[in-house]
Amino acid sequence: MDDNKKIITYKDIKQSPEVRAYIKQADISLAALGLTEHSFAHVTKCAEVAGKLLQDLDYEPRKVELAKIAAFMHDIGNVINRVDHAQSGAMMAFWILDKMGMPYEETAMIINAIGNHDEGTAYPVNAIAAAVIIADKSDVRRSRVRDKKTIFSDIHDRVNYAVEKAELIMNKEDKEIVLNLKIDTSISSVMDYFEIFLQRMLLCRKAANFFGLDFKLNINDSEQA
Ligand SMILES: [Fe+2]
Ligand SMILES: [Fe+2]
Repeated sequence: MDDNKKIITYKDIKQSPEVRAYIKQADISLAALGLTEHSFAHVTKCAEVAGKLLQDLDYEPRKVELAKIAAFMHDIGNVINRVDHAQSGAMMAFWILDKMGMPYEETAMIINAIGNHDEGTAYPVNAIAAAVIIADKSDVRRSRVRDKKTIFSDIHDRVNYAVEKAELIMNKEDKEIVLNLKIDTSISSVMDYFEIFLQRMLLCRKAANFFGLDFKLNINDSEQA
């Protein structure tokens, strides 16, 4: 490693006032746009899930750490604009990580993953990207809804609010990743869920395929896909 390069840890990123300021303002902006919670709860959960996925798949500890860093930073581009936030976030992450002294190869993997996480332009281009996609797209939960009043008018809020339980299970023997959801169908129908999540679930499948695994979705104990 170059003399001026350093090992940057997940803890360094989590505690960085710079990263935290961007995440905070990005979430304020998304709240103004009427979108679900994208703050520390979302990115911390994504970091934990993405890290665990790679750990369960026996990736080296540094890769696990890099996946956590990428997941924690994946939505910072929303501070610039929701549109193309994956690409602007990757540029921001490049600037931040380069200043911190992260080795170029590691920065490259992280910005590659961040720039490929959003529907429309997402693709599991490397293991970190695949882990971030699965962690991000599977984060559906009631606490992401900011205001209960909007659940009848906003399908995203309604679907998130209806999710009572969501768990991602890695089943290595059967070579599959399973997303188990418990949905309160008196709030949102399974069709509502599919209407907005189909593209995300297909992306999860593509990402699982990157690891040679299938992706299964299980809603209220009946396997859907
Ligand atoms: Fe995003
Ligand atoms: Fe996200």
